[in-house]
Amino acid sequence: MSEQNPLGLKKIHHIEFFVGNAKQAEFYYRNAFGFSRLAYSGLETGNRETTSYVMSQNRIRFVFTTPLNDDHFAAEHIRKHGDGVRDIAFQVEDADFAFNEAVKRGAKPAIEPHDWEDENGNVRHAAVHTYGDTIHSFISYNTANNGHNYSGPFLPTFTEQRIEGEDVGVQIIDHIVGNVELGKMNHWCDYYGDVMGFERYITFDDKDISTEYSALMSIVMSDSGHNIKFPINEPAEGKGGKSQIQEYIDYYKSAGVQHVALLCKDILHTVQKLEDNGVEFLRVPDTYYDEIPERVGEIDESIEDLKRLGILVDRDPEGYLLQIFTKPVEDRPTVFYEILQRKGCKGFGKGNFKALFVSIEEEQRRRGNL
Ligand code: FE2
Repeated sequence: MSEQNPLGLKKIHHIEFFVGNAKQAEFYYRNAFGFSRLAYSGLETGNRETTSYVMSQNRIRFVFTTPLNDDHFAAEHIRKHGDGVRDIAFQVEDADFAFNEAVKRGAKPAIEPHDWEDENGNVRHAAVHTYGDTIHSFISYNTANNGHNYSGPFLPTFTEQRIEGEDVGVQIIDHIVGNVELGKMNHWCDYYGDVMGFERYITFDDKDISTEYSALMSIVMSDSGHNIKFPINEPAEGKGGKSQIQEYIDYYKSAGVQHVALLCKDILHTVQKLEDNGVEFLRVPDTYYDEIPERVGEIDESIEDLKRLGILVDRDPEGYLLQIFTKPVEDRPTVFYEILQRKGCKGFGKGNFKALFVSIEEEQRRRGNL
């Protein structure tokens, strides 16, 4: 393991959500977001504790888990946070090593290294805590015998159970954003730096991200290959109103995952499908589109199409990106999604922050939370 990758992280293996009703979440992510059901764990498979559905689309895997008993710790998680992200799980070279090294470097242990097995083989699993009640699992496959030692559909104790969704074209997780409490951004950036060897990739301060109310500060932490990007937001003082980050924390009741950004190859196609499926997006005023030619210059897409779908555009010296944000996908104003397409641009849409936050504030105002 190098200094640049001290834990031997390979990729994001999956994201696990704790939800109040996994069966209905599965239906929503399959029919609205185009995921396919891949695997299942529940009473029928001998799991007396929880029910989980594994959903996949291209290289993205989400797990939706609900507790079957009120004394399961997932029940407490849902009581406190509502539906939300419990685990951003990494595939690593060696879960024992990753866990021991992370703890040595200052991470709080969550799950000690252990074998996780069924008739299809075994994996090693461990986990450490990150912000709020969120954890990072470390999962490794034993490849000592010249190959994968786990042959099941997902992970041990999951049974293959396929129901195809209609793919909307999201390919991979681009970044996962954490909202942390006022004054805690640097602490959590140091955590990703010290524990995982991540570097500060981009910093946004309140001059970049401030409207009348919804001020925030953000630092993007990234692995050296820029494959795993974790922006960390904290609320900043607005001019008398409540930061959107503070609204999140007030409802999530702690720090937690704010949004997951899903990368696609043809955003016009993807957003059209999502909209047809009933996914609700934030809209910016139509005047936003009048300013695009001057602000971002020549682009391949027709501005009329972008305007019809509500897609935003931003440019950096290397290219441009197209992005759009859903409304929160729960009743609490907490987790939402970003759909984006990169055309050379490595940024996060700084040029859109203002228009976007005016739109978010409008939503906050409707909720009585500004
Ligand atoms: Fe984002």
